[in-house]
Amino acid sequence: MEDVDPEKNAPNKTFQGAMANLTHDELVATWKETLDSPRRNYRIDAKILFKLLDLIYGKERTLSKYKVLELIARVPYQSWEQVSYIAITHTYEKTEFARGIFNRVLESRNQQDNEQWHLLILEDLIAKQQIREGKIKYWIIPQAIAFVYYQLSWLLYVMRPKWSYRLNADFEDHAQHEYALLVKEHPEWEELPFDSDFANDYARLESLADLFRQISYDEKIHKDESIEAIGHPRFP
Ligand SMILES: [Fe+2]
Ligand SMILES: [Fe+2]
Repeated sequence: MEDVDPEKNAPNKTFQGAMANLTHDELVATWKETLDSPRRNYRIDAKILFKLLDLIYGKERTLSKYKVLELIARVPYQSWEQVSYIAITHTYEKTEFARGIFNRVLESRNQQDNEQWHLLILEDLIAKQQIREGKIKYWIIPQAIAFVYYQLSWLLYVMRPKWSYRLNADFEDHAQHEYALLVKEHPEWEELPFDSDFANDYARLESLADLFRQISYDEKIHKDESIEAIGHPRFP
């Protein structure tokens, strides 16, 4: 039986939790920066997606709507991972080149893990608050949107990887700002503890407000990685 250090997030943690270990003061500072910063100039594909989500789920910022966002957020990383593995199948004889592609696989995997904790934490909060959700609106439609979004991300990544990264940068920028605004709308969350079955996997945070500041920060990191990839979209 292995020794388990209760102070650590998890024994032999091999997955990505929060994108950084930030203190309360650091989280507040990065949150204020986000609130003061302009949004990206979203392109048409991202605008259509955000409009569609507003039409179906309303403009009000609810935990259920954010859960749908998180379900969709994982999809580009899944499609990039799959395309990267196919690329390795075709290029494995050039071992250094294949290693470069595999580094992209690892990046995509970390981002997927991180988005997965966002999703599971939201689901957990929704269940604990006993928020009722219709099956069609919050299960079937999100799966359908995720399916279409996967195909779009996959196709863009194969045809024009730059466009796929750009769409994701827009999506992550939107998420970063939306989470920051969610915290601003709920000053009472400063006093509510972050209590979740997934806190050990993700991060231990002082309050619900800090949880959503941390998620907003994660989205910023995802955005920055996609913006960086726009500059060198093809495999190494
Ligand atoms: Fe997320
Ligand atoms: Fe994200």
